[in-house]
Amino acid sequence: MELVFATHNLNKLNEVRLLLPKHINLLSLADIGCTDEIPETENTLEGNALIKANYVLTHFGYNCFADDTGLLVDALDGAPGVYSARYAGAKNNAQANIDKLLLELQHSSVRTAHFKTVIALLWQGKSHFFTGTVHGDITYEPRGTGGFGYDPVFKPDGYDKTFAELPMAVKNNISHRGNALKKLLEYLHLQAS
Ligand code: IMP
Repeated sequence: MELVFATHNLNKLNEVRLLLPKHINLLSLADIGCTDEIPETENTLEGNALIKANYVLTHFGYNCFADDTGLLVDALDGAPGVYSARYAGAKNNAQANIDKLLLELQHSSVRTAHFKTVIALLWQGKSHFFTGTVHGDITYEPRGTGGFGYDPVFKPDGYDKTFAELPMAVKNNISHRGNALKKLLEYLHLQAS
């Protein structure tokens, strides 16, 4: 069975691949010949995930799923949220985004935050949404070299390491994306590996 994941992000692909049963062949945007940067113009995670999935169906004819993720920081009233990718400017620059986040929080002892992922699935003519969250704290400085995006400054509840310090399998087991993906697999009657 083939599934198309509407992303160019190799980190996301690797995380999702690790959770899928071995008989699923996961195809990325590159694998289906799509090099376009799909514009994310909505102001909700649901809206942006759906834009990406619809784009693939319309232009390439595949049923597919897409995700959109936000980091919601309590002391910043939920920012950067849906604008997490471009928090520090036009480009998706992880280092600049982290620098800005730590600067905004420099006088705050309230460090709680959560990641939220929404997956949009287009399947048999209908759209379906699956949501996953993980709660934790923003650290005072980046730690670790694994993962991507805000992982070096996010320490999930119950752990003393950041997502960038934890093995991918551990992150996957508790993460926003992992939790949303498990719901998607359940819907498709597939077993997470
Ligand atoms: P998007 O879902 O690719 O639009 O991600 C929005 C922003 O959140 C980007 O800056 C990503 O790097 C970041 N992001 C998405 N997923 C994760 C994650 O699992 N860990 C850390 N940062 C993430």
